[in-house]
Amino acid sequence: MTAVAGFAIPTFFDNTLIIYAFYLVILVGAVFFLLGIAMNAYALKGKYRNRDLMLFKINWTGNENVLDIGTGQGLLMNGAAKHLTTGKSIGIDIWSSKDLSDNTINKTLANAALEGVKDKIEIRNEDARSLTFADNSFDVVLSLLCIHNIEPKADQEKACFEIAKVLKPNGTVLIGDYIPTTDYAKAFAKAGLTVKSSKPYFTTAYVLMWIVEATK
Ligand SMILES: C[S@@+](CC[C@H](N)C(=O)[O-])C[C@H]1O[C@@H](n2cnc3c(N)ncnc32)[C@H](O)[C@@H]1O
Repeated sequence: MTAVAGFAIPTFFDNTLIIYAFYLVILVGAVFFLLGIAMNAYALKGKYRNRDLMLFKINWTGNENVLDIGTGQGLLMNGAAKHLTTGKSIGIDIWSSKDLSDNTINKTLANAALEGVKDKIEIRNEDARSLTFADNSFDVVLSLLCIHNIEPKADQEKACFEIAKVLKPNGTVLIGDYIPTTDYAKAFAKAGLTVKSSKPYFTTAYVLMWIVEATK
């Protein structure tokens, strides 16, 4: 339809500027339309495919201590909990409604119940920049679409340092975000972690998605 409109416009207008302006409007409309489709595909399927992709990178034993930074409605926290027997999956968040609509602990608890993992999770009110957990506490630290929200940007490095601190030796951190994870990788390297990879996975999530994986 957009394409048809785009070709039809020049037959109605003979002013070149107006024609280009219409083309521009159509192009912007098409980009937003495609973005809308991608966001829907992510919400319906992509986020679960992306969660699986991240969680399958861990060699689970079942007794891991897992931390999900900026858990929101618990996507990664609950997914990780499904791999646990004696372990625990802890989600922390500051419940920002700017970053996620309808962002409440109650909704997160309800999701954990729906996913059948309520007894394996714990939710805490905590800021990624100042974690209160003891050093070397977690076998796995996860985070999805959270770190880019942290302002000022320098605090994103602070959050990465905190993650490195609470990760156990031989532990793994996996951070997914819709911006390139290069800066997170640099921060992890600066904190003494070994960065295994930092690369895009667009076809899994159906949206822009980079994942960095590092070990301590
Ligand atoms: C876009 S949501 C992503 C939620 C979830 N990880 C997911 O992928 O569905 C970003 C989350 O990060 C949280 N967040 C933002 N800044 C944070 C901070 N400094 N510490 C902890 N959580 C934070 C927000 O409250 C929000 O729940």
